[in-house]
Amino acid sequence: MTTMTKTSHAATRAVIDAPALTPNATRKPKLMSVDDAKALDVPRMTELFKAHINPGQLHFMKLLGFHKVKVERAEGMYYIDQNGRKILDFFGGFGSLAFGHNHPRLLDARKKFQDEKRHEIAIAFMSQYASAFAYNLAQCSPGDLDMVFLGSTGSEAMEAAIKVAERAAGPKRPKIVYAENSFHGKTKGVLSITDGPLYRGEFKLVGNNVKVPFGDIEAIENAFRSDPEIGVIVLETVQGGGGIIQAPKEFWQKLRALCDQYGVLWVADEVQCGYGRTGRFYAFEHYDVVPDVTALAKSLGGGKTAMGAMIATRDVYMKAYGTPKTAMIHAAATFGGIGEACVTSIEALNVLYDEGLIDNSADVGEYLLDRLKALKAKYPKIVKDVRGNGLMVGLEFQDFSQTLPMVLRPVVSVLDDKLKGSLSGFVGALMLRDYDCLVAFTEYNRNVIRLEPPLICQREHVDTFVNALDDLLGRGVISIVKDFVKSQVS
Ligand SMILES: Cc1ncc(COP(=O)(O)O)c(C=O)c1O
Repeated sequence: MTTMTKTSHAATRAVIDAPALTPNATRKPKLMSVDDAKALDVPRMTELFKAHINPGQLHFMKLLGFHKVKVERAEGMYYIDQNGRKILDFFGGFGSLAFGHNHPRLLDARKKFQDEKRHEIAIAFMSQYASAFAYNLAQCSPGDLDMVFLGSTGSEAMEAAIKVAERAAGPKRPKIVYAENSFHGKTKGVLSITDGPLYRGEFKLVGNNVKVPFGDIEAIENAFRSDPEIGVIVLETVQGGGGIIQAPKEFWQKLRALCDQYGVLWVADEVQCGYGRTGRFYAFEHYDVVPDVTALAKSLGGGKTAMGAMIATRDVYMKAYGTPKTAMIHAAATFGGIGEACVTSIEALNVLYDEGLIDNSADVGEYLLDRLKALKAKYPKIVKDVRGNGLMVGLEFQDFSQTLPMVLRPVVSVLDDKLKGSLSGFVGALMLRDYDCLVAFTEYNRNVIRLEPPLICQREHVDTFVNALDDLLGRGVISIVKDFVKSQVS
């Protein structure tokens, strides 16, 4: 049976010409070296991606023209491709690149760590690096948010967050409230509180959840009042995947009061909006409230390493895992708090403050918003809304799905469902093709492009970006769509 499977896999292999089963199974198979990997050209990368990673995803990359780019280097605000083209990064890895690409201080810290032959895995011993990093995170966190769990991704941090909260809430209150259009990750636990049919697929999810509209305090109060089994509420402070959606200060203050009144624990997902992105370390700091549990990831590793953290109040943490009997229920996984990742993250936090990047995010973010608002005023038939805080900005186009000019309907009918009537796909593709600017799309609202450039972004980068967008929008909807469709056939 095993032989059959391996043989059929071997039939689809694109490059590794050696047979899957060699006569001597311990002999080194035909492997690529690091140099081989660096030297791959675009057709070969495409072949490998299709054969071994995700053939369906390639379809979307092709639609957007992203499949033509091989990034050779990345520095500061730019990717540099195989032709030496500099691509201005306003995507920022969905907020993973606060420091831009390859910040010199982070490279130095990592190199020093390697040169000194420091240790990585510290399951047996305590780690000076993990301890110091956890201390730093507690220093950056308001109130009693003192206890830190280190993992590698936002999903892992959020899993840790809902687990610590569930245990602290107790077995009689197992239900979790979450919001419409939420995104908390793709692992199975947090998938259950992620409101995207796309990601939910047809998986069997964890039950015990109650969905409310985001920002609807009455719905939350009704839920708390009517269901004493609710022990936890989980909300992104700014919904990223939902299209950069915020709730007003009064909502958060009332939420804190309701949680206190009903004894419900509030988990704030700051994986995307935290770490200075909105002009405060945590986005909830805009509202003068402190949650019981929060989570960070993305830029936490400085854009150089995978790092995620759950931060809980000491009280919540001790209720969940505070005794020797409960301490190991959710202690760090194999790679939680490993050496170089922690050292990179310690240095990153220092750079964040030394370079005033949180203030820069607020300042340059306001400038970006102002310039985009001017574009909205200039193109009211194209741009519907501009919103955000700091360098977490959403630009929403008018929905053309019903109103696309008749002349364009046959043209777009050949396109993928996701693109029909949505200007963001066309604009994103042309911003890259014609203006060397990269933007991000939005899972749940196809009319929104997300702008989350590195926090090192300067006004001149904003000018380059907005001038390019202005030029593109100036072509008008018909030309934009036609130019896009032409790029599909050329
Ligand atoms: C708000 C939020 N929570 C959780 C996650 C999951 O993070 P990761 O992709 O690192 O697992 C994301 C990722 O986009 C996110 O935006």
